Amino acid sequence: MAPDSGIDARCTSVVGLQWGDEGKGKLVDLLAPGHAAVIRYNGGANAGHSIVVGDRKLALHLAPSGVLHQGVLSVIGNGVVVDPAALIQELDLLHSAGVDVSGVRLSDRAHVVMPYHLEEDATREQALSSRNASAGEDDRSIGTTRRGIGPTYAEKMQRVAAVRVGDLYRHKLLRERIETALTLRSGPAGATDHTERIERIFKDACAWGERLKPHITDSFYLLRDLLADGKKLLFEGANGALLDIDHGSFPYVTSSNSSTLGIGPGTGLPDRNLARVIGVAKAYTTRVGAGPFPTELSNEIGERIRTRGKEFGTTTGRPRRTGWLDLVALRYAAELNGCTELAVTLLDVLAGFESLRVCTAYRVDGGETDRFTPDASDLARVTPVLETLPGFSEELTALRSRSELPAHASAYIAFIEEYVGVPAKIISIGPDRAQTLED
Ligand code: GDP
Ligand code: IMO
Ligand code: MG
Repeated sequence: MAPDSGIDARCTSVVGLQWGDEGKGKLVDLLAPGHAAVIRYNGGANAGHSIVVGDRKLALHLAPSGVLHQGVLSVIGNGVVVDPAALIQELDLLHSAGVDVSGVRLSDRAHVVMPYHLEEDATREQALSSRNASAGEDDRSIGTTRRGIGPTYAEKMQRVAAVRVGDLYRHKLLRERIETALTLRSGPAGATDHTERIERIFKDACAWGERLKPHITDSFYLLRDLLADGKKLLFEGANGALLDIDHGSFPYVTSSNSSTLGIGPGTGLPDRNLARVIGVAKAYTTRVGAGPFPTELSNEIGERIRTRGKEFGTTTGRPRRTGWLDLVALRYAAELNGCTELAVTLLDVLAGFESLRVCTAYRVDGGETDRFTPDASDLARVTPVLETLPGFSEELTALRSRSELPAHASAYIAFIEEYVGVPAKIISIGPDRAQTLED
């Protein structure tokens, strides 16, 4: 009988339920031991996943967040878009920090972020933001991370000029693809002579292939064999469910399925039986980049959350927008991902507020709804219905068991569980591994 390659009861997924930066990296690092591999299946270096162990702080962009654990493979699946220069830099940085990166595996079918994709991302964003304000034209940029994510996924869908990791050492094909990509970008045939540029990029790409070759593999067979051997796998989502290309706040989203829906296409494994889906949510909401945010607080409360939560982007350093917890959006995301449990993070940040507010419905067109409206133009029209809950004054960061939580902090968590209909089995009260309360 053929080995069963389906994701099964031994597999866990960690996925963000908001607009990113929910603390996925911390949780994946914590849960990685006992798994044969941690697998990234979507996004690229737009992700910034932080891990804190004592005095040590790491920000990962492409390497999966299990990389600190020897014996756990770090797999970058075919659904990821990989900037080889960024990956090489990250591996070098990890190596110089004493981390063994020999367990990093890179799918030969992952698509490559090429220099022209990075340029295109920046040029489009620039053009969309500096439209003619005096003529009443508004800024229509997405606020991307400028890591070439959208242009690389677009190239993948267009097919003919796309470069995949395995092509980095299929030299004849590689040169042809680069040539096609640049020719397609140059307007009328023969308008620009790209010969020199093609050669330069080709040479760099060959060097990336050479450098990354020990890591490159067919990740489908690697994962299928691990499953056939009875091993456990841990899937690490990048970005967040509300940034999902199909189900997020379109068009202010990223360019991949950043929910668990991305696991199938991003790894090739059928996901009929994923046993544990941990949806990660901050105890409040943040967003970085443009797009509607119903519970946003553009006042001193929002500023206080930003300061206490150190809410500045891991990838771009941009200040994150902050707001109250949006339970309408959270329940939608939990349903979309098939969450079996929640991990509520950064609860410590909310200490000291006299009262806390959560959004339980949206007011729109004279009525009320508890359904999320993912289209950005619809979401921009809603106003939140906010319920007030009592705050807690005690700092939480030193607590080590859930029973020590102040009554109002416990009641806040219980309110979330009740509304979303999913138990919160993990509560995070600080960036360190030790600052985690499990049920
Ligand atoms: P990710 O993209 O989902 O992995 O999240 P990021 O790493 O971009 O952002 C989360 C930030 O919050 C990081 O700086 C973490 O170190 C930090 N963090 C994670 N959990 C907690 C927590 O429970 N409390 C506090 N105060 N910080 C946390
Ligand atoms: P992690 O994995 C927060 C946002 C960008 C922008 C939009 C599109 O760290 O949670 P892109 O560069 O993907 O084309 O940008 O998506 N974005 C994120 N925001 N955390 C992330 O990743 C993000 N990845 C993309 O800010 O609004
Ligand atoms: Mg992040």
